[in-house]
Amino acid sequence: MTLVASRMARVQPSASGMAAMRARQLIAAGHDIISLTVGEPDFDTPDHIRAAGEAAIRNGQTRYTNVDGIPALKQAVARKFLRENGLSYENNQIVVASGAKQVIFNAFLASVDPGDEVIIPAPYWVSYPDMVRLAGGEPVEVKCPAADGFKLTPERLEAAITPRTKLLVLNSPGNPSGAVYTRDELKALGEVLLQHERVGIVSDEIYEHITFGNVRFESIAAAEPRLANRTLVVNGVSKAYAMTGWRIGYGAGPADLIKEIVKLQSQSTSSASSISQAAALAALEGPQDEVHRNCSVFERRMKIIRAALNEAGLFCEEPGGAFYVYADCSAYIGKKRPDGRVIETDTDFAEYLLDEAKVAVIAGTAYGLSPFVRLSFAVADDRLAEAGSRILSACRKLA
Ligand SMILES: Cc1ncc(COP(=O)(O)O)c(C=O)c1O
Repeated sequence: MTLVASRMARVQPSASGMAAMRARQLIAAGHDIISLTVGEPDFDTPDHIRAAGEAAIRNGQTRYTNVDGIPALKQAVARKFLRENGLSYENNQIVVASGAKQVIFNAFLASVDPGDEVIIPAPYWVSYPDMVRLAGGEPVEVKCPAADGFKLTPERLEAAITPRTKLLVLNSPGNPSGAVYTRDELKALGEVLLQHERVGIVSDEIYEHITFGNVRFESIAAAEPRLANRTLVVNGVSKAYAMTGWRIGYGAGPADLIKEIVKLQSQSTSSASSISQAAALAALEGPQDEVHRNCSVFERRMKIIRAALNEAGLFCEEPGGAFYVYADCSAYIGKKRPDGRVIETDTDFAEYLLDEAKVAVIAGTAYGLSPFVRLSFAVADDRLAEAGSRILSACRKLA
């Protein structure tokens, strides 16, 4: 006898969540582990945002809100899209939810019929394929090698589209690769999509504000305005404002899809937290200087970890944004550990780094493209530098 539904057999727990949990357990047990598994900024939520949350509690903003979010926040989201992305949305085209993750999950549930295919460029954020499976759809993984900057090309997109394709998922800046699509690249993908009217787009832009150097973020809905009416743009406050625990994300797109997403929320979570919505309003409308400052901190750290990894023979492309590097560990596949065990996969390599260097990273197999490891640099500079030198000496012990 089991109470577990058969659909659960199609889903895996989040690999990054599991790796982060394992690292936390080892740290709690007294091991000196440096965890580079984290998917969140290590900064505090800015003071003015925390103050807005506190004020909301004191002022009694402690009740259910509209299912789709408080009007003031929805208006702030609309202003954000206009100001930062040149995108214009009506009130009925916007939904506020408990994180970008919930918007994406509900979007798949609301749009994917059994057997529908969803194209997911790999490497991808671990949750997309499992969410698609839960919705009854078929994830179609398209491998995008390092030689293509881990980005989907028009040719690969065209080859992946079938009569059953319902959606394409784009994630720029991307987790785990940090790849950022240029306007021209998005327009080129748009050319293909314009030939396939049935294919919708979910554009996950959660790392929008974390970009480096001259890299400029662009949304596909702005790069190819003819696609805006079939694109769901997903964003949120988690990464830009160091607000992962507040759980506020938002989506904007076709009114009919938004209506169904709101219906799902009305039957599941009712609304996002009233207090967090007040804080998110302060984030979107308040001063943005900490966002820019944090971004330059991430850029400095990206350089620290990249230099160390390249010295260790773990080549990684320079990410255009987000706070991860996706390092190629093919040089160590087939090598022997000091204990004689052979490293056969990136999972073995990640395990070796944990055992020998006491550094926790996530194996590329979780992201659909091997042999790589993902390292987060949302970690203090000195710990990151220490992780780099530990990785280097561990790699030197492989024969
Ligand atoms: C690509 C991507 N999308 C969405 C999310 C979830 O964001 P939120 O905290 O708003 O749910 C994450 C978090 O790790 C992510 O990496």
